[in-house]
Amino acid sequence: MTGITAAITSVGHYLPPDRMTNADLEKLVDTSDEWIVSRTGISERRVLRDPDKATAYMATEAARTLLAKRNIDPSEIDTILVATVTPDMFFPSTACLVQAELGATNAWGFDISAACSGFLFALTTGARFIESGRSKKVLVIGADKMSTIVDYSDRTTCILFGDGAACALLEPDEDGYGLRDYIEHIDGEQKDLLCMKGGGSLNPPSHNTIDAGLHFLHQEGRAVFKYAVTGMADVSARIMERNNLTGDDVRYLVPHQANLRIIDATARRMGIGSEKVMLNIERYGNTTAATIPLCLVDWEHELRRGDNLVLAAFGGGFTWGAAWLRWAYDGSVYPIPEHLAALSANS
Ligand code: UT7
Repeated sequence: MTGITAAITSVGHYLPPDRMTNADLEKLVDTSDEWIVSRTGISERRVLRDPDKATAYMATEAARTLLAKRNIDPSEIDTILVATVTPDMFFPSTACLVQAELGATNAWGFDISAACSGFLFALTTGARFIESGRSKKVLVIGADKMSTIVDYSDRTTCILFGDGAACALLEPDEDGYGLRDYIEHIDGEQKDLLCMKGGGSLNPPSHNTIDAGLHFLHQEGRAVFKYAVTGMADVSARIMERNNLTGDDVRYLVPHQANLRIIDATARRMGIGSEKVMLNIERYGNTTAATIPLCLVDWEHELRRGDNLVLAAFGGGFTWGAAWLRWAYDGSVYPIPEHLAALSANS
């Protein structure tokens, strides 16, 4: 690849302070810590309890940490892309709300709806604006307040999801670092397996839609699992093959965090060991659009310029894909974030 590439030059995050553990869920539904850990790998997730704060708040806080780290003024941001399925409202977009809160007075932007693949799709979209020369600083945010669409009486879904936000800054690079290649797919034939049917123009809010539970996320877990396990592994293996990357070449797989078993299967297909897999599902559960950038935040201090990363996601729609990127900076220049420092102090 010649010319300008889009490199991630910083990351930021916001995690709500409140934790919901498997023991908390045992009090709500007929489940057990043993079942949840063995079937999913999740021990706890974060929940934003403040009813006056929602996705735009988390997205803005994540952006603020990123800008502060790099000492960037919000007016320097020219593009804001927010991946989410839990926007504060249908419109204005979450990107508009974040723009105003940040004071990003020179930015345009929009939301991207691709469920758990949202961050990946937003990243590759943002990269096109950088590669074309139209944008110089693109803020790509993945944020979801899943607790607002989860039915806490449905044990098959409520154990899976958590709230959170994280983001990456894309800037031009002329030395070949950043996004190198990607493969992305959608398949609306399977729209009913993972969806939220209420609230849109087909089923606008009414007493009936509320009574029928249409404003909650619905997932047919076993069926989705089968598609996810092959979809995510296939696309990750394909991106390696077509770029002649072997398991040895890959520094980290950065997978969407839906289920430990899906992630393990993907790593096996790629021929990489578990030491090369970013995994934080245990602490945050499935935060939908935030999982991949939250991994980048948690592993930033271990990343070095030139590291090859494969990002991979699968989500409702269906949407899925993988991206190969060559990391552009030495993450050890930044202090370890507080939430990780506390983790190592407790272990
Ligand atoms: O992020 C977007 C994409 N989403 C995914 O990738 C999620 C894909 N799916 C999954 O991760 C898994 O299917 C789940 C974690 C959702 C479920 O795991 P599973 O191994 O597929 O379980 P299952 O749905 O086949 O259910 C097995 C049993 C059932 O009981 P019976 O019918 O065998 O008696 C369920 O009723 O486990 C039961 N079960 C539970 N038991 C205790 C389902 N949920 C629970 C629970 N606690 N929370």
